[in-house]
Amino acid sequence: MKIPAWLENAIFYEIYPQSFMDSNNDGIGDFKGIIQKLDYIKELGCNAIWMNPCFDSPFGDAGYDVADYYKAAPRYGTNDDLKLLFEEVHKRGMHILLDLVPGHTSTEHKWFKESLKAEKNEFSDRYVWTDSIWEEPEGMGCIRGISDRDGSCAVNFFSHQPALNYGFYNPNPEKKWQQPMDAPGPQATLQAMKDVMAFWLKMGCDGFRVDMAGSLVKHDENSKGTISLWQNVREFLDKEFPDAAMISEWGEPDKSILGGFHMDFLLHFGPSHYNDLFRCEQPYFSSRGKGTAFEFIKKYKENYEKSDKKGLICIPSGNHDMDRLARHLSVEEMKVAFAFLLTMPGAPFIYYGDEIGMRYVENLISVEGGYGRTGSRSPMQWDNSTNAGFSLAPKEKLYIPQDESSDRPTVESQMKDENSLWKEIQKLIKVRQETPLLQNLAEIEFLSDGSTYPLVYQRIEKSTQEKITVILNPSEKECSYKIEDGQIICSNSSKAKIDKKDGKIFVPPVSYAIVKNQ
Ligand code: NOJ
Repeated sequence: MKIPAWLENAIFYEIYPQSFMDSNNDGIGDFKGIIQKLDYIKELGCNAIWMNPCFDSPFGDAGYDVADYYKAAPRYGTNDDLKLLFEEVHKRGMHILLDLVPGHTSTEHKWFKESLKAEKNEFSDRYVWTDSIWEEPEGMGCIRGISDRDGSCAVNFFSHQPALNYGFYNPNPEKKWQQPMDAPGPQATLQAMKDVMAFWLKMGCDGFRVDMAGSLVKHDENSKGTISLWQNVREFLDKEFPDAAMISEWGEPDKSILGGFHMDFLLHFGPSHYNDLFRCEQPYFSSRGKGTAFEFIKKYKENYEKSDKKGLICIPSGNHDMDRLARHLSVEEMKVAFAFLLTMPGAPFIYYGDEIGMRYVENLISVEGGYGRTGSRSPMQWDNSTNAGFSLAPKEKLYIPQDESSDRPTVESQMKDENSLWKEIQKLIKVRQETPLLQNLAEIEFLSDGSTYPLVYQRIEKSTQEKITVILNPSEKECSYKIEDGQIICSNSSKAKIDKKDGKIFVPPVSYAIVKNQ
């Protein structure tokens, strides 16, 4: 499979549209607001954007409950505004992925409303329905008793998100409602989703981040059915939109890459041990120095091997589903964490606001199905003006309350401060952009196992044996590491030094060094 050339060096910025920039002062972010801030994203150094769902929706799950796949949510703007956003992104040499939610819709979607009817119609098989109200689709949760249709409809996530029907990998012959993947209902669902993709790709988006990509086919032994479904989608894309980029929220790169995805996200749940790094009682990147990255690296290596040693695993700084990085790490610790995130293979993803260490807003009442996630979704803090420059709406109309602390970080102040997290990230991105060996597809070899400090790995060009060594010391004790020769090309400390006589590099507390080997 060919990876679109731009993806080889893409550094993504995740935009949660409702909280990024409000251009019409209604308290909610919008497309025009995003357009106003594209130059900002470019100045940080990111060259690609992933935008969370922006389609018409009752917003019971912040837009992951789509009511119309073909219509931009009016609160963000029109389809024409979205098209303009694509154009403005491209004008700046950047790319943008939309968020495709193929596993479920909102109960407000017209497909679902039709499928609720007792009389058989075009949409009766669009969702996973049992054929009696008294039978539940086991292990899936369901919606039932809300219409005359005699059946229960499986749900995919929240109970207002009915599961679209892509069929069962191993349908039980005694349960006729479990349709095989090639039955007309599942085939029509798949075609409908391809039509949605074609619509937005023609409009100018560059591809999709795919929500719960591994969840489509039910009772799917080893995901075989879902893999073949995505292979089928890739074939269609290769014919009609060969440059469309696909990145999955799946967390099992051996499966997703086989399914034709270009890259896969590392997930904060499941077996990845991602949380050991930044989000647990003793994170590895905390200066307390009591954490371990051992299990993380073990798992990462397994997945790396399984995905052909390519940089196909994307490690995000955070996202709209996790706590803010700043809830667990100090600014100085975050600098070392970003040195890791920006020197690993796979496309890095920076969650809006993480570049200034935006804090998790504690004790909020859930907004739009956010629950504990709400505190990570507060409006962006641009400057010291009204509502931190996000919106001129009265404060109580803001989509989510902002961080009220007097020392809340802002973009404006950090862009002026040479020692800020923002400047550190800008510097790291620049080094990555200038150094092909640090980019998404160059190989990695770990020189330490993550059980101690420092964490050391090399990015390698096998053909020329060119190497870059990354030494990360999040701990409060100075570390050293044996190194033959080389030159430090980036560090957050002027005291990081290579002692050629000793053949060692010394890395001060809470610092990192990126070394070009000679
Ligand atoms: C994963 C998304 O990231 C999350 O925000 C959403 O609630 C679920 N999928 C359901 O679509």
